[in-house]
Amino acid sequence: MPALIAPSILAADFANLQRDCEMVNQSEADWFHLDVMDGVFVPNISFGMPVIQAISKHAKKTIDVHLMIVQPERYLETFKEVGADVLTVHYEASTHLHRSLQSIRGLGMQAGVALNPHTSVSLLADTLEDIDLVCLMSVNPGFGGQSFIEGTYRKVEQLRKMIDERGCNTKIEIDGGVKANNARQLIDAGADVLVAGSFVFRSEDPVATIAELKRV
Ligand code: DX5
Ligand code: ZN
Repeated sequence: MPALIAPSILAADFANLQRDCEMVNQSEADWFHLDVMDGVFVPNISFGMPVIQAISKHAKKTIDVHLMIVQPERYLETFKEVGADVLTVHYEASTHLHRSLQSIRGLGMQAGVALNPHTSVSLLADTLEDIDLVCLMSVNPGFGGQSFIEGTYRKVEQLRKMIDERGCNTKIEIDGGVKANNARQLIDAGADVLVAGSFVFRSEDPVATIAELKRV
């Protein structure tokens, strides 16, 4: 089965967001990936609620919001209101992860957990049934356009095994440095969703690049 493709709007032209959203609508992409950075959890600031709300008006596909913020539990309801369908919090930023996951599902969204490159997938052993999506960071979060960390393949395989052993439906998403040259290996290792920012938006023909990822 081809993976779901989630272009990361972080790499879009912010002065032409509507145009870039329409491009994603018309492409074979499955999701919009929206990166929220607070300058505290990660050393960069991206965009927040008003921008997501504006994108929601044009986006005709699932909105996947990746929160790279401290204390994400403060804003779960607000992200639902501005249009999130999938809401992902970082493991490293969540003291009460289980409570946040329950709240996200209770609000009618899919609940995601993101793991930094140094965080072991084994730490999710007791919460996997409560997670709809695990986002494995294949770069250190905070910036687009970084190089893929090779150790990610092993994490995907380990996580795939944990999910299959439990018979749950948790999806594995890969975020950072995804390109046509590593997509196949990630899917073979067990990935379900591929996020791609610069590879899509810095290409000559983003629609064709998305189609290429869909067919690797
Ligand atoms: C990184 C973000 C990613 C980023 C991916 O902190 O979470 O979603 O936009 O960008 P590329 O595909 O350029 O690595
Ligand atoms: Zn992301």
